[in-house]
Amino acid sequence: MAIPDRSRPVLVTGGAGFAGSYTVRALLDAGYEVVVCDLNDYRPESRFVIGKAAEQIPVERGSIDNWPRVLDVVGRHRPGAIVHLASIMDVAVLDENPMVALKVNVEGAVNFLEAARFNGVQRFVFFSTIGVIPQVKYEPIDAEHPVVLPRHGPVGSYSVAKLCGEAFCFAYQQSFGLDVRIIRPSALYGVGMTWFAPNYMKQIVEPAVRGEAVQLPTGGPVPRDYVHAVDLASLVVAVLEGPEDADRIFYAATGKPLRTGGDVARIVRELLPGADIEVGGQFSESDLAEQAYRGQISIENAKTQLGWSPKYSSLHDGLAEYVERYRAFLAASAGGRR
Ligand SMILES: NC(=O)c1ccc[n+]([C@@H]2O[C@H](COP(=O)([O-])OP(=O)(O)OC[C@H]3O[C@@H](n4cnc5c(N)ncnc54)[C@H](O)[C@@H]3O)[C@@H](O)[C@H]2O)c1
Repeated sequence: MAIPDRSRPVLVTGGAGFAGSYTVRALLDAGYEVVVCDLNDYRPESRFVIGKAAEQIPVERGSIDNWPRVLDVVGRHRPGAIVHLASIMDVAVLDENPMVALKVNVEGAVNFLEAARFNGVQRFVFFSTIGVIPQVKYEPIDAEHPVVLPRHGPVGSYSVAKLCGEAFCFAYQQSFGLDVRIIRPSALYGVGMTWFAPNYMKQIVEPAVRGEAVQLPTGGPVPRDYVHAVDLASLVVAVLEGPEDADRIFYAATGKPLRTGGDVARIVRELLPGADIEVGGQFSESDLAEQAYRGQISIENAKTQLGWSPKYSSLHDGLAEYVERYRAFLAASAGGRR
């Protein structure tokens, strides 16, 4: 039988958010029925990304750390696969409150793993982060790269909770034969991205499209592998449909040399002639903390084992898509208000 069985829906936790909305859209385009489970309703951008189908998709509102609710939702919909994206994203809050990272992000993941094994879920895709890597030990960073080192662990409670989630995935695979896969996204971008990870992307593109001046004190030299949310979503489908003997860990990235906030500013100026954008030459404190795990990433296993490659491996093309879609979103929002 194909994995996952298409007679059963795919449950997407966090489907009302940024990456979730692109994932839902890609799953619908691939012919899956989808159920969303999220604490919140769709954001306007998420609704725009999914389109009219958002009205028909069942949305189960609830918190991932509420075990009875999780069991109820998974038991009623009996999904063939679960894509678990829901997570508290406010890194600063989690750093101050490690118990919240444990309670919501770790326990939430374990709740869905537990509900998956009781309900015959065929494949479970867990969203982690590139931040599980404490320090770049070699490049390109691949799935073999160590995640706990003699003197360093992942940066902050958010990444530590992701690493715990990954480890529990392996525990469920070993103890119960649950087919678990892990996606570690790098720096995601596209319409709908949040202020928790603006990445010298949202704060440049969106005001520039609105015709506002952009002046950022930091960001010019800060490097990242920027990956478009459309490519992340196509990776989710490829991982869901990939062969059983494929790896369990994949990076959502372009695999190209890292690009900087300064590169983003320069390309946006090309795309929007006359845009007034200034990005300073400094690193912020959080940029400095992140530098430890920013290195060139390998996407070879996704290419060779899943036949996946990113559509927007060119940052220029990905930014052009972001600009166009954001314009369309603004136009649709203005139309809706009339
Ligand atoms: N954005 C990035 O650059 C990035 C990078 C690496 C990993 N990720 C991972 O991708 C996933 C999606 O991130 P995103 O950028 O789309 O963020 P997002 O905030 O847009 O999406 C997260 C979703 O989870 C929901 N949620 C939060 N707490 C919940 C709870 N207790 N119960 C149920 N739902 C809850 C939110 O309502 C939201 O819809 C997360 O797991 C995140 O850690 C994102």
